[in-house]
Amino acid sequence: MTKKFHIWTSGCQMNVHDSEKIAGIFSEIGYNEAGNSNDADVIVLNTCSIREKAEHKFYSELGRLKKAKKHNPKLKIAVAGCIAKQKGEKLFKRFPYVDFVFGPDNIESVQGWISDNGPRTSVIGEDPDYHTKLLPVKRAGQVRAWVSIMYGCDNFCAYCVVPYTRGREKSRAGHEIYKEVQSLAEQGFKEITLLGQNVNSYGKNLSKSIDFPDLLYKLHEINGIQRIRFVTSHPRDFSEKLIKSIKDLPTICEHIHLPVQSASDNILNLMNRGYTYKEYKKKIDMLRDAVPDIAVTTDIITGFPGETDADFQCTINALTDIGFDGIYAFKYSKRPDTKALDLPDHVDDKVKSDRLAVILKLQESITYRKNRALEGKKMEILVEGVSETASDKLTGRTRTNKIVNFYGDVSDVGKPVNIKILEAKQHSLFGEKI
Ligand code: SAH
Ligand code: SF4
Ligand code: F3S
Repeated sequence: MTKKFHIWTSGCQMNVHDSEKIAGIFSEIGYNEAGNSNDADVIVLNTCSIREKAEHKFYSELGRLKKAKKHNPKLKIAVAGCIAKQKGEKLFKRFPYVDFVFGPDNIESVQGWISDNGPRTSVIGEDPDYHTKLLPVKRAGQVRAWVSIMYGCDNFCAYCVVPYTRGREKSRAGHEIYKEVQSLAEQGFKEITLLGQNVNSYGKNLSKSIDFPDLLYKLHEINGIQRIRFVTSHPRDFSEKLIKSIKDLPTICEHIHLPVQSASDNILNLMNRGYTYKEYKKKIDMLRDAVPDIAVTTDIITGFPGETDADFQCTINALTDIGFDGIYAFKYSKRPDTKALDLPDHVDDKVKSDRLAVILKLQESITYRKNRALEGKKMEILVEGVSETASDKLTGRTRTNKIVNFYGDVSDVGKPVNIKILEAKQHSLFGEKI
């Protein structure tokens, strides 16, 4: 009987895309995807270490699998991703029922592990050539696709584990990215999202001189791709040349995710972010001057060590000042190896939570107000499929990355459709086809 694999994924888009690569390897060696974890011969937990909460989620999932392994001793369990990279062999000691541990650079090692009938081992070393390798990818959708353009991060923001889990920053060659996007276009994909922890520094390690806007101009030429998105942009490296490319190129969507983290210069400095709030705001103003209807989203951390009430007030003021379309906000979480651990004046957990609640509440009203302003407007959406929350409706996104649900025909899937927005909700819009 054909063996089956199941992948559990937590974390950022990069991890979601890595799971597509892990699935690609399993498919190549003849495994099928299991409907759920109970049905699988091999289970991979692709983990995230960005905050304590993500780590706890992994431990509770692993706890569940302990029972599954008791029922089925032949079940193989592998741990992948950022926690795997950080903990390595140590995971075997604490969780004797884990069979294999592999890091983000070692996805191809799955093949050898399976064909050697799964010896208990860990492979977590940084692979200096990982960015040149072409792994098979089993993609989850048929309309939108992820494309890695770079791996790792050299920024060492004081709170962040990513430079330790994903290693040094390395860009993929431009012609390889071009080839991948061209092949996606030929397969019928309509939208691509370029992935990197800091896409604005794309190209730094490459011998051929190319930067991120140059890459966008190249990819724009590919026939069949209607929309190009990218995450994440670092405000320090967000350039005028990039703004010009967004303005010039009709395929580049009018949405930027530009994590500000805090609007206090004191905190930004302690975070090692490399910009002031004024510089950040200036870039947003330039962007909005060039592309007036662009949507801007951001990330915010509350209660970073040393954050006073006055520092926090700066961030509150910035939310109103800038008017983001949406935010992801988190309370500061202590992470292993990071510089922020050694900073003085760690903030009380209750204060962090209270500040987070204030931020989320304020943003809720701003997001809703922004969504309300779209009522009556005509917008183009790219139809992705049936809505997960309302199965009688189809769903898609505007170029500004807002979710729109509407009554339509399944033959609309994969097509751009013009919609009149009828009603704004907190997290989505409802509209009708015109
Ligand atoms: N490369 C991206 C995002 C990395 S992680 C960037 O530079 O912005 C995604 C978000 O998680 C970060 O933007 C930050 O807001 C949040 N984050 C990272 N480490 C954190 C920590 N230790 N505690 C709380 N939030 C954190
Ligand atoms: Fe983490 Fe900063 Fe790198 Fe983003 S830029 S991944 S926040 S170190
Ligand atoms: Fe998490 Fe690793 Fe992504 S820590 S956010 S899965 S890079």
